[in-house]
Amino acid sequence: MPKPALMGNWKMNSDLSSAVGFVEEFFKHISGIEGKIRELFDVVIFPQFPLIKPIVDSVEAGARWSDLLRVGAQDIQPEDRGAFTGAVNGICLKSVGVSSVIIGHSERRWFFGDSDSLVNAKLSTTINMNFEPVLCIGEPGEIRDKGEQDSFVLAQLETAFDSVKLDSISAISLAYEPVWSIGTGRNATEAEIAPMIELIRGFATKAGFPGGGANLRILYGGSVNPQNASELYSIDGVDGFLVGGASLDALSFSAILDAMAGEGE
Ligand code: PGA
Repeated sequence: MPKPALMGNWKMNSDLSSAVGFVEEFFKHISGIEGKIRELFDVVIFPQFPLIKPIVDSVEAGARWSDLLRVGAQDIQPEDRGAFTGAVNGICLKSVGVSSVIIGHSERRWFFGDSDSLVNAKLSTTINMNFEPVLCIGEPGEIRDKGEQDSFVLAQLETAFDSVKLDSISAISLAYEPVWSIGTGRNATEAEIAPMIELIRGFATKAGFPGGGANLRILYGGSVNPQNASELYSIDGVDGFLVGGASLDALSFSAILDAMAGEGE
């Protein structure tokens, strides 16, 4: 079973100096509990593409910390190379030290038109290239209002994993992010999250994930912050978070980690 994880999706925020400053601040904040963090969690941040390499370099420069903070990409182009202006392929992501890739975030689906079939292709490429996929799923508010969230999320999972080779998955994260909770300050409740976790685990077993889903972690995302992290993390089956707004500031990001580790209460 992969360790629980805290992942920070920076979206289209930060720049070079604030990104490098984040790394310094983050390490300062977790100083003293770094052994516990290393043992208990994977921590990954997903900056804009040009910030990936400088962050990897600044993490590696602090040798004793180098395994404490991994860097991921917010997107990937499924093709190997070629005439895809503006896109970034997996070969390039590998070469700058990316470990994980977010796929199917609702903002990609909405603003960039990432279709189910594109999400499927991106997932395949990510798995084939041995990145850890962080696949986002979750229903818009109007779907939940109609009580159709289960069939909506199940359909997202089924199309995303259609014909994907599952035996090569070494670690995968599925992030349940109800669209209505993203950036709204209104996190989902246990009554909303727990049945979704059951549904996702059930899908993984039925779809034939290796070891019945032993390599799967299920994250919750949507308005997670230092104040609600401890309660959300106590929900059975929540293996960590994908955090947007509260991941931009090293202090609030590490405060979420403190809450997960049961520190600083
Ligand atoms: P939020 O974003 O934490 O700002 O709600 C979560 C996400 O979009 O991954």
